[in-house]
Amino acid sequence: MAHQHDHEQHGTNAEQWEQRYATSDRIWSGNPNALLVEHATPLAPGTALELGCGEGADAIWLARQGWTVLATDVAHAALSKAAAHAADEGVPAGAISWARYDLATDFPAGTFDLVTASYLHSWHQEFAREPILRRAAQAVAPGGHLLVISHAGAPAHAEPGKYFPEFPDAAATVGLLELGGGWVVEVAADVTVPMRGPDGAPSSRPDCIVLARRTG
Ligand SMILES: C[S@@+](CC[C@H](N)C(=O)[O-])C[C@H]1O[C@@H](n2cnc3c(N)ncnc32)[C@H](O)[C@@H]1O
Repeated sequence: MAHQHDHEQHGTNAEQWEQRYATSDRIWSGNPNALLVEHATPLAPGTALELGCGEGADAIWLARQGWTVLATDVAHAALSKAAAHAADEGVPAGAISWARYDLATDFPAGTFDLVTASYLHSWHQEFAREPILRRAAQAVAPGGHLLVISHAGAPAHAEPGKYFPEFPDAAATVGLLELGGGWVVEVAADVTVPMRGPDGAPSSRPDCIVLARRTG
């Protein structure tokens, strides 16, 4: 997504996301994120927690692979669209639970075989991503995985200075997770993802992916 820094800061982070989803038909592509598909395909399905599920394409993909998913987002409007997409696509009832959480102040109880966050970013100043990702690591069951897919910089077509300057790369993401012992970082990779710019012209953006397994 484009993290425009000149977004207005009226309202809380939650209110801004609510409004964004409520006022547009579909923000994202409807397809699962390619990096999720690549890195979650080899994992044995179990229970999954998704953080910031948006319109639900990743959760729907995970459910299709056999995962039982708790998909969370701060925006009710996103969750209702996501649930409608899942129903349209014939995902069996019960495979995905859609639940509203402001992860900055509240986090689902329990542990999961996979905890995944795709582009859990916000342009809002109050959004503190690092503590949420550290809390996410604590929600991984022994033997389970944490998958964090992120933007790592501005897209190639971006006007200089128009985007948040601080997107951690893969190494910095591993660092901010503060995993300590009992973890193996299986993948920490900076990648260039092809995309189209606003005018439809081919472009690309730097992303990163971290996949870590909790061993104990
Ligand atoms: C850039 S979007 C990514 C959506 C989706 N994962 C995807 O890849 O298309 C970030 C998502 O995080 C959600 N979000 C932002 N702040 C949040 C918070 N405090 N708690 C839970 N979700 C939050 C937003 O509503 C939005 O759906």
